[in-house]
Amino acid sequence: MVRAPVSIRELTRDDFPAVIEIDQVIRGFSRPDFWRRRFMIAEFNPPWASLVAELDNRVVGFVLGWSSCWEFGLAGEVGWLDIIGVHPTYRREGIGRALVTEFMNLARNLRQVERVLTLVDPEQFGTMDFFSSIGFARGELVHLKAP
Ligand SMILES: CC(C)(COP(=O)(O)OP(=O)(O)OC[C@H]1O[C@@H](n2cnc3c(N)ncnc32)[C@H](O)[C@@H]1OP(=O)(O)O)[C@@H](O)C(=O)NCCC(=O)NCCS
Repeated sequence: MVRAPVSIRELTRDDFPAVIEIDQVIRGFSRPDFWRRRFMIAEFNPPWASLVAELDNRVVGFVLGWSSCWEFGLAGEVGWLDIIGVHPTYRREGIGRALVTEFMNLARNLRQVERVLTLVDPEQFGTMDFFSSIGFARGELVHLKAP
């Protein structure tokens, strides 16, 4: 349930300063090159979802993702939610849930993608709890790393 009057819309190039600032608050360091690349992809080679959450005309969160098609042995098109962030001041207000809900609606309505996956570090308890609370469950895939 969304408790705050949040609106979810597509990310635009004007959101760059706000997104980079939220990311910096979350991580404690700035990643301008990473965000320049992600904004370029969103603008010129749009994946199906790069969204921001706005409260009182202020950007307070974001979610970005892409889709794979017959990759990793997965049949058909699969959505991947690869980065989500909500400004710490605005957490636990349903904004993260609203971002993921819209992300999944777009997957379904624009691309007929029913399966959306993400990867989570199990040590990040808050993130695991968030995804569990909104209905995500552990899947069958295992990530492997080279020696
Ligand atoms: C994870 C994150 C996006 C959650 O955003 P949020 O707006 O606070 O989430 P919501 O308010 O929509 O919460 C949805 C549900 O998850 C639960 N939840 C959210 N954060 C939680 C936490 N840290 N611990 C336990 N439960 C949590 C809420 O209680 C809520 O459950 P409910 O609806 O049953 O009450 C936010 O904490 C964040 O930006 N974290 C840092 C970045 C990050 O870890 N990103 C993921 C990897 S890219």
